[in-house]
Amino acid sequence: MKPQERLVPLFSGSPLGSEFQQVRRNSIALCEPLEIEDYGLQGMANTSPPKWHLAHTTWFFETFVLLPYRPGYRPWHPAFEHLFNSYYNGIGTPFCRPRRGLLSRPTVAEVLRYRAAIDEQILELIAANSADGEIHARIELGLHHERQHQELLLTDLKYSFNLNPLKPAYHSPPATAGMSSADNAYPWCAFEGGLVEIGAAHDGGFAFDNEMPRHQQYLAPYALAQRPVSNGDFLAFLEDGGYRRAEFWLADGWDLIQRENLSAPLYWRRGDGGWHQFTLAGERPLVAEEIACHLSYYEADAYARWIGARLPTEAEWEHAARNQAVEGNFADQGLFHPRQAGADRSRLAQLFGVVWEWTTSSYSPYPGYQPAAGALGEYNGKFMSNQMVLRGGSCVSDAAHIRATYRNFFYPADRWQFSGARLARSL
Ligand SMILES: [Fe+2]
Repeated sequence: MKPQERLVPLFSGSPLGSEFQQVRRNSIALCEPLEIEDYGLQGMANTSPPKWHLAHTTWFFETFVLLPYRPGYRPWHPAFEHLFNSYYNGIGTPFCRPRRGLLSRPTVAEVLRYRAAIDEQILELIAANSADGEIHARIELGLHHERQHQELLLTDLKYSFNLNPLKPAYHSPPATAGMSSADNAYPWCAFEGGLVEIGAAHDGGFAFDNEMPRHQQYLAPYALAQRPVSNGDFLAFLEDGGYRRAEFWLADGWDLIQRENLSAPLYWRRGDGGWHQFTLAGERPLVAEEIACHLSYYEADAYARWIGARLPTEAEWEHAARNQAVEGNFADQGLFHPRQAGADRSRLAQLFGVVWEWTTSSYSPYPGYQPAAGALGEYNGKFMSNQMVLRGGSCVSDAAHIRATYRNFFYPADRWQFSGARLARSL
């Protein structure tokens, strides 16, 4: 199905208006490969149907921009506040999340009309209030919110498609294109550490409130693996009985794999002729050289323990991403077995836009953290318990949504995100 969306012509003199139209169009473009039946798929409680993502991102602009800043504005539909509110208790009671897949109405066509109507009003507001900083800030937040949901739309769709024995493909080119590790080597990049600065500066471009304030942290000397863990690396752990050996697992992780009888990463399936992996391009043989994806925190941590390393803290990761290695690598220290020379082993590879890399850092407020006022303060702050921080962005993240200070966060058992691991060690 090719959805149609009506948009007014691009603003010639408004970068925000142009960016708004581009981001909104990208959401529609992501849905072009879908059949109409796909729009309602919800594979589990944590995922949402594509149609819900399209409507919720629209509701966000309606609720946080049009209602407060468009005099006399009346909601496009009186029930949408309930249906498409995700978790904002300050707004009202959200519709039951695990039942989003039951919402056959509104139809896809109605949701697209909703999008077009809200888009038109937002663009008019941008044109009429081009100098209003608060409106701009909220629209910019809404655009980054929509980029988050564009990634979630694909992440959730992959989970739903995998449940179908027909193993549908979202597209034909491999979704993991560009994810292959450069070589089989596992060299280390060293960092001196010391008193370092972490977090986003207030005047440094867009950042979510949870990335601020910029602050100091002390880091002992450490090293990061030059590249993330690959499928072949993780397969070695699996074939060494990794899922049957409790000594590598955190207690909660061990309980989880017993309770759910887990013996491989999500989307891995042992079939005729070896391991297969479900991707957005359908199921295909596991490629050892590609970066391991859809690992839980427990799996990433167990792998690191098995090989005698650890995962980085988020401060180590961010400092490394900003500063790169200072003095070559430690490829000869014997922890790994490099088999092929890389072009430049003194620099970290595949930090951004490959997999979200789990860190050992609990998702918690930075010193001096201030959530936004009102219901928008629920965006990040209220989730700061029992989750772990991931860094780097994935192969399905929008490029404009990737930066060194970005703090993604998920529960340690979650595996349906494009999540992987990069090893660390103390020096
Ligand atoms: Fe959202």
